[in-house]
Amino acid sequence: MTTDYLVIGSGIAGLTFSVKIAEKFPNRQVTVVTKSSEEESNTKYAQGGVAVVLDDEKDSFKKHIEDTLIAGDGLCDEAVVEMVIKEGPQRFKELVAWGANFDVDKSGNLDLGKEGGHSEYRVVHHKDITGAEIERALLARAHQLDNITLLPHHFAIDLITNHHIKGQKPKADACYGAYVFDQEDNSIFTITSKSTLLASGGIGRVYGHTTNPVIATGDGIAMAYRAKALIKDMEFVQFHPTALYEVEGESSFLISEAVRGFGAYLRNKSGKRFMLDYDARAELASRDIVSQSIDNELKKTGETHVFLDCTHLDIERFKIHFPNIYDKCKANHINIEEDWIPVVPASHYLCGGIVVDKAGKTSVPNLFACGECTRTGLHGANRLASNSLLEALVYAHNIFKYHSTHELQDVEVAIPDWSDEGTTIAKEHVLIQHNLRQLQALMRNYVGIVRSNSRLTKAIKHLDLIYNEVEDLYKASKITTSLCELRNMVNVAHLIINQSLQRTENKGGYYNLDNVK
Ligand code: FAD
Ligand code: SIN
Repeated sequence: MTTDYLVIGSGIAGLTFSVKIAEKFPNRQVTVVTKSSEEESNTKYAQGGVAVVLDDEKDSFKKHIEDTLIAGDGLCDEAVVEMVIKEGPQRFKELVAWGANFDVDKSGNLDLGKEGGHSEYRVVHHKDITGAEIERALLARAHQLDNITLLPHHFAIDLITNHHIKGQKPKADACYGAYVFDQEDNSIFTITSKSTLLASGGIGRVYGHTTNPVIATGDGIAMAYRAKALIKDMEFVQFHPTALYEVEGESSFLISEAVRGFGAYLRNKSGKRFMLDYDARAELASRDIVSQSIDNELKKTGETHVFLDCTHLDIERFKIHFPNIYDKCKANHINIEEDWIPVVPASHYLCGGIVVDKAGKTSVPNLFACGECTRTGLHGANRLASNSLLEALVYAHNIFKYHSTHELQDVEVAIPDWSDEGTTIAKEHVLIQHNLRQLQALMRNYVGIVRSNSRLTKAIKHLDLIYNEVEDLYKASKITTSLCELRNMVNVAHLIINQSLQRTENKGGYYNLDNVK
């Protein structure tokens, strides 16, 4: 298959770019491959909203920029921060024009929420299901455009680069598309593309205990790493302070930070509002500080979780703002009028990733990246809440702008078909599951909120064993999604651990006991 633009991923990043480029060039083909159903993505689960400066009286770009820089703990790229925040209102208006609905107050003005690290109310939202609403609107627009082909249940295995082109001598390294696995008929085919965009999202599943859905296995970052793209800041894994504590199960339901913005308190088992001991902003300190404080509190008390207390809030208003959270608590027999919600930090977001410039270009020619899989410089050492959807909107636009002013390059090399010679159908699925459990336990226990050099070094040794077993399995087996995902997660874990060891100063979401002065 050949296409003009290959987009890997159908979350906010992939769909925003696809819609824009398809509208501008009706005669060019945009092919979107996505490994699950078309709407499944981290985007679909976003709750709090999009941080954007719309209220000129109280808020300003300056304040949003400052909040972002403070959260990023000195490691943000200031020019990027300024660009993203100033572009925000324009990009938000486009989203509304495509049909996404956002809550308004009684006077018809946008209802603005607040989250940790924000000095003003500036988060536009659709109840507590903002991401699902954005995803709905983007998919509806994409379906109206004849030149977008959406291929759900298609898994991108690897990017095609010069490494795959044997016997020919392309002038410079480049990306020519991807090998893609059709999960429905188990075939593997080549998509040759003049431009390839990775919009493949986050890595939460590497930790097992995560707010992310099962698709978040870091595939794009692993593919880019294998294609020799520059990857940076992988040590900055963001743990969300308040995932619902559930005794069973791994994927953890998020209790939005907007609930704390609405006035909820964090308490330990004995009822103390412990955040007052850690930061003057208490529950609304930035996410790294709240998660590290909860971790410390749990270690001190030996408890498994802390609590979010909403009992003093106006519950009727709460139900209007957070209907999904209210229902989820109720289904778990938590009556928020009387009961505190048990919560615990969980892996939530990756601040680092594939290095891109302002036009979304990676270090590999013809390979672009957008959204959570990237490291743009916006987040530094810790992302400010609700800056991620904003970043994806702004960078999707920048990549679109770049493509509007630069000619597409024809692919002039012959791409070999995927070869699975010598492989057999893996009989021991149990090995994949076993290695996945080992990997996730390793990351939780040795590469969590608080790290140390000795734990990280142990993690490397253990990861080497898992790596060897998984590589052997991969070389001998016919492709399956779960095997490829496991292989990708091992690559991502390797990057997180090694880049953690390289950081000798604690910053934002990175805390290593050996760096404490
Ligand atoms: P995603 O939306 O994750 O999309 C990635 C896509 O790539 C998916 O379609 C996936 O199936 C596909 N894919 C992945 N690998 C492959 C492969 N190998 N082959 C083919 N397809 C592939 N951010 C905010 O700014 N505000 C919020 O309120 C907010 N709330 C959040 C709440 C939750 C519970 C979570 C999990 C995240 C939240 N975030 C929030 C973060 C934000 O949702 C994500 O960072 C953002 O949606 C990422 O968008 P994306 O398009 O980059 O990736
Ligand atoms: C939340 O609603 O707490 C998540 C916001 C975010 O991750 O930006």
